[in-house]
Amino acid sequence: MRKPFVAANWKMNLLAAQLPDYFQVLRSELTAQANVWQQVDVAFAAPYLLLPTAHQCCGGDFLVTAQNVHQEPSGAYTGEIAIGMLKEAGVMSSLVGHSERRQYFSETDEIVAAKTKACLQAGMLPIVCIGETRHERESRATQDVLAKQLKAVLPVVSVEQKIVFAYEPVWAIGTGLTATDEQAQEAHAFIRGVVQDELGKEFASSLRILYGGSAKPENFSGLLAQADIDGGLVGGASLKPKDFAAMILQAAQGAL
Ligand code: 13P
Repeated sequence: MRKPFVAANWKMNLLAAQLPDYFQVLRSELTAQANVWQQVDVAFAAPYLLLPTAHQCCGGDFLVTAQNVHQEPSGAYTGEIAIGMLKEAGVMSSLVGHSERRQYFSETDEIVAAKTKACLQAGMLPIVCIGETRHERESRATQDVLAKQLKAVLPVVSVEQKIVFAYEPVWAIGTGLTATDEQAQEAHAFIRGVVQDELGKEFASSLRILYGGSAKPENFSGLLAQADIDGGLVGGASLKPKDFAAMILQAAQGAL
């Protein structure tokens, strides 16, 4: 059985000064269920400057992840952050290819593949985001888009490496629209199938695929109940520690 994985993506929100309170509330909500830390992997994708404080607040209980990395180890890339700098700060994971990076910062499939490769080679866990736009879904191109995004990345992955995928339909991000349980399951099953074709059944069946796009306490348990949905990548709802804790508890409940 795949262990549930619930990740917060704070995007460009919060301040370091707010984090002690955030984690105090979160932890007090989580004590409602014993051993929740053993049942669910929980991660926080924080803005770069918040990473050291987030790391401190998480202790060994939760994973801290960056929201982006640069693919080169060092060099003249003004404004960018290298993997070695993240590792020095104790950060061992990063989101890669979030749709906001693709949309607003022109990240192509090739760049996403290069970043994924750099993470894997450095022993960092990449959480690679894929998903179709509203126009692509309406023109029935969802599976073609997912296959293209996956096929750019999978050649840099080998079966002994650890990677997580997040299916984030762009039309559901920050819009309040969520994919239905059936739409999300269909996409996740398709993703697992493509991964299986490229990397084999054993790898595909142990791969965790997270759903992202207006996930919140009211819709999360239905999504988690789907066979190929292994957790969530949560934007807006993760800014409220009570809501995010409720989602972690739902994932833990499902894991029992
Ligand atoms: P929302 O949960 O705010 O829709 O954001 C989803 C997302 O982009 C997570 O990476």
